[in-house]
Amino acid sequence: METLTTKYLGLTLKSPLIVSSSRLTSTIGQLKEAEDNGAGAVVLKSLFEEQINYYINSIPSSPGYPEADDYLANYIQSNSVDNYLDLIRKARKNLSIPVISSINCYTSRGWTGFAKNMADAGADAIEINVFFMPTDRKKSSADAEKLYFELIENLKKTVKIPIVLKIGFRFSNILFMIDQFYNRGIEGVVMFNRFYEPDIDINKMEVIPASIFSQENERRYVLRWIGMASAQDIKIDISASTGVHTGQDAIKYLLAGADTVQVCSVLYNKGIPYLKTMNQQISDWMTAKKFKKIDDFRGRLNYLNYEKPTVFERTQFMKYFSSFE
Ligand SMILES: Cc1cc2nc3c(=O)[nH]c(=O)nc-3n(C[C@H](O)[C@H](O)[C@H](O)COP(=O)(O)O)c2cc1C
Repeated sequence: METLTTKYLGLTLKSPLIVSSSRLTSTIGQLKEAEDNGAGAVVLKSLFEEQINYYINSIPSSPGYPEADDYLANYIQSNSVDNYLDLIRKARKNLSIPVISSINCYTSRGWTGFAKNMADAGADAIEINVFFMPTDRKKSSADAEKLYFELIENLKKTVKIPIVLKIGFRFSNILFMIDQFYNRGIEGVVMFNRFYEPDIDINKMEVIPASIFSQENERRYVLRWIGMASAQDIKIDISASTGVHTGQDAIKYLLAGADTVQVCSVLYNKGIPYLKTMNQQISDWMTAKKFKKIDDFRGRLNYLNYEKPTVFERTQFMKYFSSFE
């Protein structure tokens, strides 16, 4: 009988499938549903840096706020942060699977001390969804990278539970960055966040949001980097994210070396109970391949273990171009 049990951030998960951060992880009912249907862990919906800053800055001044509108805004904002901490407490109390809290941020200062409140509320780990948008052509990539290091330094001052960075793949050298995260004490990386992106409506002549839900073919941007990152001689955990719509998709990321696999869009589409089907698909495949546990095949096809590692290096289509007339 095979087991899907796996380790992530030093925590034991009964499945490598994690419900990733979104509105699907914003109520205790949804979190319980995820656990009941076989989620290995849950990442709570994110709190935004702006909410935290509002909360931090408004506490001393709130009694003196003169305008009703300000008071209302203050109430809503600070209340939502309190609600968030309450969600962590309730989740910790009612769930037996790990509960990971989440923060969306785009600066490295000010709000970082707040992460301790999440740990105090009972979060098992904190996922930091971070992206510093480079909008200034006079700033170098090294300038942007420094912001990540400053962020880690600030977080590490207050937080003792594991910190995971949920990153994008827009770095000049992703492996260098992951190495730097590891050297600074980061326990895990989520590869990768799927950002909110613009599209254009040519009839209305407007910039509109591109589809917020992923397609399975988006895995192609992720698989290479998981295969390469998991082959490094450092022990930073990797959680795959983007384009996992079936158990088979999850297996691909595990074979490439991911420790866990996060799911979001497919659960919006098919409902949280679909996790059960995905776990079954992983189990069935393991039975067919005679694998007893996830570690029997994790990373089997990564840059280090696969017999033809150059497939991970090849980015140009020479073979295909030369054979097409
Ligand atoms: C509606 C929606 C809301 C999301 N909200 C968050 C969020 O608050 N924080 C976050 O880190 N990621 C958020 N994400 C990103 C997902 O956690 C996930 O990384 C992304 O959708 C890629 O995974 P998928 O292909 O399984 O959807 C959101 C995604 C969707 C579709």
